[in-house]
Amino acid sequence: MRAAMKSFRTKQEVRDQVRAWRREGLTVGLVPTMGYLHEGHLSLMRIAKREADRVVASVFVNPTQFGPNEDFAAYPRDEARDLAQCESVGIDGVFLPEVSEMYRADATVHIVEDRMSKVLCGITRPIHFGGVLTVVDKLFNIVTPDVAVFGQKDAQQALVIRRMVRDLNFPIEIVVSPLIRDTDGVAMSSRNTYLSPSERERARVLNRSLAAAREALLAGKPLDEVRQETLSAVTERADRVDYVEFLDSETLEPATAETGEVLIALAAVFGHTRLIDNTLVRLKPQA
Ligand code: PAJ
Repeated sequence: MRAAMKSFRTKQEVRDQVRAWRREGLTVGLVPTMGYLHEGHLSLMRIAKREADRVVASVFVNPTQFGPNEDFAAYPRDEARDLAQCESVGIDGVFLPEVSEMYRADATVHIVEDRMSKVLCGITRPIHFGGVLTVVDKLFNIVTPDVAVFGQKDAQQALVIRRMVRDLNFPIEIVVSPLIRDTDGVAMSSRNTYLSPSERERARVLNRSLAAAREALLAGKPLDEVRQETLSAVTERADRVDYVEFLDSETLEPATAETGEVLIALAAVFGHTRLIDNTLVRLKPQA
C-alpha cells in the first residue's frame, strides 16, 4: 500500500525523505509549481508519476521571479486545496517552504541565462527568468530528482530550464508536457481567476488566433502575412498586446521559411491580467 502523502516545510525534511527513498532504490520525480493548482498542474503530476517511483510537488510563490510592479502579493494562494489536489493524483510529498526557508536575505549568487531569456517575456519581465532559474536550481539541489516535469504552457520557461540543465550539467531529465486548456479554449492558468466574465470572453481570442495561424501556416501562407493577421486579431480583442511572435521552437530566433518547427507565442493584457499562450507548428519533417 502507498504511504500517506507527506508535507514538508523545510529543506532538511525533504532531504531526509529523499534519502530514505534512495535507500530503497526508488527514483524520484519533481513537479515545481506556485500553487493554486488546476488541471494543467495535475497533468504534469500524472506524467511525473509515470516517470518516477516517488513524486514530490513543490508549492512556492517565488518572490524573485516577480518584478516590482507585478502581482507577487496578490498571487492567488490556497494551501488546503492544493494539498487535497496533490493527494488526489497520488503525489508522495509536497514541499511548501516559507520564503525564509528558500532565500537568505544576503544571498549573492544567482543563475542568469544570456540569450533565450532576453526575448518574448524577457523584454517586459527582465528579471523573471533569472528568478525562475535560481529557484528551480535550488529546488533541484534540495530534491535531487531524477526527472522534473514542466509545462509547454510556459514554453520559454521550459526552454531556458532545459538550457540550464544542459549548460550546467544537471543529472536530471526534463520532461515537457502538453498545454492544457479549459473547455472554452483558454489556457489554464492560476491567473485566470483575476479575469472578469467579459475579459475571459475576450481572452478566447488567444487560442482562436493560434488555431487560425496554425491552419494558415500549414496551408502554406507566408509567415509575415500570418503574423500580421494574428497581430490584428489579438489587438482587436485585448487591452494591450505584449507580443505576437513566430520563432524557431528550439532557438527562439525569428522563424524563417527554413524553420522546422515554429513556436507561435502570444502575450496580451485583458483588464489588469497579462496572459500568455502558444502553439507549435511543425513545417518540415524532423531531421
Ligand atoms: P506555475 O505557473 O504554478 O506552473 C507550474 C508548472 O505548471 C509549470 O511547469 C507550468 O508550465 C505548468 N502549467 C501551468 N499551466 C499549465 C497548463 N495550462 N498546461 C500545462 N502546464 C501548465 O511556472 C511556474 O509556476 C514557476 O515559474 C516555477 C517553475 C514553479 C518556478 O517558480
